[in-house]
Amino acid sequence: MKTKITALILVGIFAFAMTACGRRDSNADSAVRTDSQSGAESRTESVENTETEENTVSDTAVSGQTEEGNSNILIAYFSRVGNTDFPADIDAVSSASLVRKDGELYGNTQYIASLIQQSTGGDLFLIETAEKYPVDYDETDEQGMIENRDRTRPELASHVENMDSYDIVFLGFPNWYYDMPMAVYTFLEEHDLSGKTVIPFVTSGGGGFSDAISEIQNLQQGAEVLSDGFKASHSKIDDVTLEDVQEWIDGLSLLNKYLLSIDIHLIYVFDIFINLFYTMGKGAGRWQK
Ligand SMILES: Cc1cc2nc3c(=O)[nH]c(=O)nc-3n(C[C@H](O)[C@H](O)[C@H](O)COP(=O)(O)O)c2cc1C
Repeated sequence: MKTKITALILVGIFAFAMTACGRRDSNADSAVRTDSQSGAESRTESVENTETEENTVSDTAVSGQTEEGNSNILIAYFSRVGNTDFPADIDAVSSASLVRKDGELYGNTQYIASLIQQSTGGDLFLIETAEKYPVDYDETDEQGMIENRDRTRPELASHVENMDSYDIVFLGFPNWYYDMPMAVYTFLEEHDLSGKTVIPFVTSGGGGFSDAISEIQNLQQGAEVLSDGFKASHSKIDDVTLEDVQEWIDGLSLLNKYLLSIDIHLIYVFDIFINLFYTMGKGAGRWQK
């Protein structure tokens, strides 16, 4: 009996360690896939481990074909940063949709995406349009209004080439005209997310998701689109912490189940082996008598 208890304690410690590794691999690099012309390899950087000069625009939104990550979680997002050629010295104060964290400037949605990446270790993917949006906020606002009115489908420069390898897709965007930016429609019409769990997140001036969640479900009828997405108002982005995002993710029971499933399988396998050895040991003892 003592042996079995010790073995179970060991399995417990092992399972805990595996769970911790799986859930908190926050500094792991993540792949970003795009097909833009450069073809150069790029890596995302987490908020925590960047060592760049103050006020530089974060290169979480990078271009270039990259090697595949090994996660089954994709974090696809659209944001002004990455879709605008901002001058390197732009400051957060002059633009309503930029947030400064640890000396780096992020788009609001990009920042939330980076927290989700830190929390899950998933692969970040920027939904990037072929044509950049204007640096001037009002001009982007005007363009967004026209695109929404005309139901435009902006051409994308980035495409997920291995969508099959993802089971969970976090999908983030800013609210544009009480809707998703039209580029997100292009993304959703280009990729089949059937059989996947789609977890939306949004940043906005107060409009939240508007009707985006039902729009996503309409476009992806074979996917399970969770309704309890994460939303943050642009005036409060600065206050959103990794813990907030982690707490939200912890509340997503399906995701937890999935993230833990690998570890649980390992526990089963170890338990079978330990029971086997225990039984054999008992048996051997009996036989020796
Ligand atoms: C073209 C455009 C349209 C917008 N429309 C809305 C809107 O209808 N409702 C709202 O609450 N916020 C609206 N906003 C504000 C953005 O949703 C908000 O600033 C968001 O956090 C920007 O995210 P980003 O920095 O990732 O691009 C709009 C912003 C832009 C640029």
